[in-house]
Amino acid sequence: MTLSPPSKPMLRALMGDVMRPPPVWLMRQAGRYLPEYREVRARVGTFLDLCYSPELASEVTLQPIRRFRMDGAILFSDILVIPHGMGRMVGFRDGEGPVLEKLQGREEVEALASDGIAERLAPVYETVARVAGLLPAETALIGFAGGPWTVATYMVEGGTSRDFARVKRWALGEPDGFALLIDRLVEATIAHLSAQIAAGVEVVQIFESWAGILDAESFRRWVIEPNRKIVAAVKVRHPQVPIIGFPRGAGLMYRAYVVETGVSAVGLDTTVPCGVAQRTLQSLVPVQGNLDPLALVVGGAALERGVAAIVAAFKDGPFVFNLGHGVVPETPVAHVAHLAELLRRGP
Ligand code: CP3
Repeated sequence: MTLSPPSKPMLRALMGDVMRPPPVWLMRQAGRYLPEYREVRARVGTFLDLCYSPELASEVTLQPIRRFRMDGAILFSDILVIPHGMGRMVGFRDGEGPVLEKLQGREEVEALASDGIAERLAPVYETVARVAGLLPAETALIGFAGGPWTVATYMVEGGTSRDFARVKRWALGEPDGFALLIDRLVEATIAHLSAQIAAGVEVVQIFESWAGILDAESFRRWVIEPNRKIVAAVKVRHPQVPIIGFPRGAGLMYRAYVVETGVSAVGLDTTVPCGVAQRTLQSLVPVQGNLDPLALVVGGAALERGVAAIVAAFKDGPFVFNLGHGVVPETPVAHVAHLAELLRRGP
């Protein structure tokens, strides 16, 4: 059998082709800023019920594709299905974000259910299979997982945190015990990403949203090394599937992250200067990013100037347009439509 080269624009960009116009998708492109999302969300009890309903999760995955013809459809799910699949309590309170029971100590780590996670998360893979059968031919299906460090912060802090004191005290004070938690999360993440790929995703992204809060030595141990293990294991099983790493806030560690993890492409957060990224990162791998989500809220000249600067910086190399973080709920739908239009129209 001969493999034909991928023809979807997003997959081609991730394989290193220079695409004009650049392919585009947005982190959190499905969500509360869309009235049709709020309508579906109101029909289910909890946010996790939505994540575990293949029928409704596939519907909300497709909503931004219908409206904006994005080049990538990201599976509708959450990074916190992993702790939930490991037997922890996970809830979402309106306006407050996630609430988890705080994980403490080695005994609770050893009690985590780490085998069979792919069986417990079966509805997620059923969503993937459904969406794969319903997508337009040119749209790539994106799977994802949280990075182990980021997921560990939520498990240990019990939710979002201001200073991350609990998780840092554990990681710095008892690194060998904390390593057990990270190792369990690495294994669960490999299983979860592999199951998504088996069900039909064509590219995966690792959301390491809290990569930016660590000293350099801790960053190597808790971000780079676990991400490297995940990339290596997924590439052995599925060498054709590009892996996008998104180490948000990694700053001067971005280049080490790219070189040492072996990711196929890198997601840039809003603070990364495009010129520097073009010279030091796009020369190594395709880049993705990095418009400020608030420029999309503001619209008008702020949006147009931001888009033009990013496209000008990255257009001569492999590049996928995205935001530097997720779409926020107050984003006007018309601004997202305008963004998609601007990119297709070109300079
Ligand atoms: O469209 C998509 O991008 C796909 C779906 C997706 C969601 N969360 C849906 C969601 C993805 C890829 C995520 C990733 C995620 N989840 C991250 C990494 C990216 C980032 O933002 O840094 C993180 C840290 C989480 C954890 C999480 N889930 C938080 C902090 C929150 C609360 C924040 C909020 O906006 O309420 C969630 C809930 C969540 N995940 C919502 C959505 C659409 C909102 C819940 C609702 O609709 O009631």
